[in-house]
Amino acid sequence: DVEMVIAIDGPAASGKGTLARRLALHYGLPHLDTGLLYRAVALALIDADRDLADAAAAEDAARSLRAESLGDTRLRERAMGEAASVVSAIPAVRAALLDWQRRFAAAPGGAVLDGRDIGTVVCPDAPVKLFITASPEERAQRRYRELGGRGEPVTFEAVLADIVRRDARDADRAAAPLRIADDAVVIDTTDLDADGAFRAATAVVDTRR
Ligand code: C5P
Repeated sequence: DVEMVIAIDGPAASGKGTLARRLALHYGLPHLDTGLLYRAVALALIDADRDLADAAAAEDAARSLRAESLGDTRLRERAMGEAASVVSAIPAVRAALLDWQRRFAAAPGGAVLDGRDIGTVVCPDAPVKLFITASPEERAQRRYRELGGRGEPVTFEAVLADIVRRDARDADRAAAPLRIADDAVVIDTTDLDADGAFRAATAVVDTRR
């Protein structure tokens, strides 16, 4: 058996997080939602009353990040996704979080990581790379339902605007922009439910093992 590193990338609300959790459970592997790392850096800056664009403070926050801070429920808030995409464009922040992610990926037996640059930068040698996507409208619909279910007051239009802005920022930044790794398998979940996405993903994983 090879080290089972499963690298999952994709834009915001593509369903990659749900899929990553299910794959991790199914294959008995640890899972890291790497978006949480960037969200935690953003939250640390906000809590310290620092500017999100303060690169030195952001790098410090990234270097002193602790695993315990990844459980903070505030990390899931809508504003934090936005703030995370600002700090994630700072190269020193990405560099500081790289070792963290690679150590996680080196777990004996393997690991599942999901984010924006796992297959391209963090784990370029991963035997399985998936790129999960869906139309912006479908992704906005999912995020809208999720936020509504948690009682965050927000309109569908605002969520769609967030998604489009975040897609553009993540794809256009100079440092590790969101792109499809050459050897990634693309799964478009626009017309798939969570079970359908899971079946498509396990079909890929099982051929690579
Ligand atoms: O996936 P999530 O919405 O939690 O990610 C929040 C933000 O963190 C993304 O919009 C992106 O800018 C950044 N991110 C990143 N690289 C990753 C994971 C997340 O740049 N591997």
